[in-house]
Amino acid sequence: MNLKPLKVVVTRKLPPLVEKRMSELFDVKLRDDLNPMSEEDLTLAVTNANVLVPTLGDNISEHLLSKATTKLKLIANYGAGFDHIDVKVAIKKGIIVSNTPNVLSNDTADMTLALILGVPRRIYEGSQILRSGEWSGWAPTALLGSRIAGKKLGILGMGRIGQAVAERASSFGLEVHYHNRNQLHIESETRLKAKYWKNLDDMLRQIDILTIHVPHTPSTFHLINERRLQLLSKNAFIINTARGEIIDENALTRMLRTTEIAGAGLDVYENSKNINPRLRSLSNVLLLPHMGSATHESRSEMGEKVILNIKTFQDGHPPPDQILPNML
Ligand code: DGY
Repeated sequence: MNLKPLKVVVTRKLPPLVEKRMSELFDVKLRDDLNPMSEEDLTLAVTNANVLVPTLGDNISEHLLSKATTKLKLIANYGAGFDHIDVKVAIKKGIIVSNTPNVLSNDTADMTLALILGVPRRIYEGSQILRSGEWSGWAPTALLGSRIAGKKLGILGMGRIGQAVAERASSFGLEVHYHNRNQLHIESETRLKAKYWKNLDDMLRQIDILTIHVPHTPSTFHLINERRLQLLSKNAFIINTARGEIIDENALTRMLRTTEIAGAGLDVYENSKNINPRLRSLSNVLLLPHMGSATHESRSEMGEKVILNIKTFQDGHPPPDQILPNML
């Protein structure tokens, strides 16, 4: 057992109780800033720390890792997604990487359902009309949307979040369809009332609403490209609470403008610092600022996971949420 406290560097402001617990357990350097660390400060961190706690928006690239010293043993990411970390390079350098899965699945699935319900029922437009003072009262033909019950929901990626979405969707009367690398066991399919499509294109031709729940990897980049968007019906809706890079955002924007796609609910973007202004101006989209896991509970539990991963590592064991090469 190593009795010397680990030097931990945290790159972003975390919930106060998480920071307090970290200060009690480790020799921790916290940061009172909501924005990502500069390249210069990240370089300093990877040369001095034993443990780096980065989060979404910190670019833990091959270049940065080339500057890491042998002191750096663990990258305990605050977040489930790890596409901002070059995990392959970290592993090659003998640095363990961990993340915070599970604890945010239900909250992210809830937000996905908010978009699945909100886009076809034109929540954004209704709210806009009311706030602008243009609402002249109830009318039989005003703001008509599409019924949810009976529609076919296609879930792309049936991991923990995809399954949490499926559980919720069937209680709204949606028919659940899914595409995943591997088919679920028959018991899970029966429980989730979900129909498997081995071929993604075939599923896209059938569904009314597509929701994305795959991680961003080189093989999922622009998985929903212009050709695949064209397979969807003109009345279809697209929801994305996973990662923006999975959809070709320019093609999606174009098709939303020309109403080749009926609407979209997005929580994530290809470049969140520079969202396409055309996308932002459309009325058939409901746009959120990446807040799928933004509950007090999820963000505290993510912190608890980070602490558990570091503590377990400090005690000489593999962190429970270690990212292994077969997960890449
Ligand atoms: C994650 O943890 O990767 C999520 O995208 C944050 O909501």
